[in-house]
Amino acid sequence: NRHIFIFNMIWAALLGITGILTLVLLFFSRTRQENEPPLDKGALPWLGHALEFGRDAAKFLARMKEKHGDVFTVRVAGQYVTVVLDANSFDSVVNDTVSLDFISSKNQLLERIFHLKLPGLQPAAEREWMERYFQGCRFAKLCQTMKANIESLLLGEVQGSSAWEWKQDSLFSFCYSLLFRAGYLTMFESTGNANVVYEEFRKFDQLLPKLAQGSLKKEESQTVNSSRERLWKLGSADWLSQGSGPLSWQQSYLRFLHEEGVGAEMQKRASLLQLWTTQCNNGPAVFWLLAFLLTHPEAMEALKSEIR
Ligand SMILES: *[C@@H]1O[C@H](CO)[C@@H](O)[C@H](O)[C@H]1NC(C)=O
Ligand SMILES: *[C@@H]1O[C@H](CO)[C@@H](O)[C@H](O)[C@H]1NC(C)=O
Repeated sequence: NRHIFIFNMIWAALLGITGILTLVLLFFSRTRQENEPPLDKGALPWLGHALEFGRDAAKFLARMKEKHGDVFTVRVAGQYVTVVLDANSFDSVVNDTVSLDFISSKNQLLERIFHLKLPGLQPAAEREWMERYFQGCRFAKLCQTMKANIESLLLGEVQGSSAWEWKQDSLFSFCYSLLFRAGYLTMFESTGNANVVYEEFRKFDQLLPKLAQGSLKKEESQTVNSSRERLWKLGSADWLSQGSGPLSWQQSYLRFLHEEGVGAEMQKRASLLQLWTTQCNNGPAVFWLLAFLLTHPEAMEALKSEIR
């Protein structure tokens, strides 16, 4: 019964913001020890690789990967940052809460990105709550609803236009838009306008890596601020309007937060966190999957033979 839903681990997603897992570890010793990854301090004292990292982080990391492999430590403005690029190692790293403390960096990111403070929240209690709602028959029901929503969104697109009329969109935005809207309607049991929420969400999501790094320009910071406000409003309207039926996961989550001492304002902000953690990976993951299939005929063939 190991249905681990994508958003099972809020912090795993938070750490994966830029698609890599970056762990900040402070080393007492400045030389590489026997059991440590390659250490690259860069030429500049204290600053290390800060300039190159700030200019183009992706390019810098690609260069380091070439030089050192999947796991290495670099010095960036006095901090020693260990970068893990091998996806197969993520689980065991994230799982090792004995040697690594993710809580303080998680809380910092929550505050910077979502303006959210959840000081007393116990990760174990949160996990227990999630397991109650996102496993077994409740999870199966969510999957069914998700499938129905994807179908009705796709059919809606077709019925809305004449058969001769082609619509053009990029593969990425097609995947993201479809999965996001279906996910939003499913998770938030919304009847509201998923398109509006989607547009706003993409603005926020696109600037999120810069927001996490603290490198937003002034007008970008304005965009983030207004999108965040707007999403709080849109999200909480749907969230708090759950009236009938058995206790939904949203209501249960709010009750859980309340019991953990989280006030009304922070509960509203937590709805955006939930929206983001549940929806930020699905569209991109489907895009990469489709892109792989479309560029690897042998994989597509294997898939087709399974469907036939
Ligand atoms: C995570 O750690 C627990 C014990 O702390 C262990 O039972 C489990 O197998 C580990 N999972 C992974 C993916 O390493
Ligand atoms: C965005 O909000 C933050 C925090 O409330 C604030 O410090 C910053 O000045 C705002 N940015 C702009 C451009 O208004």
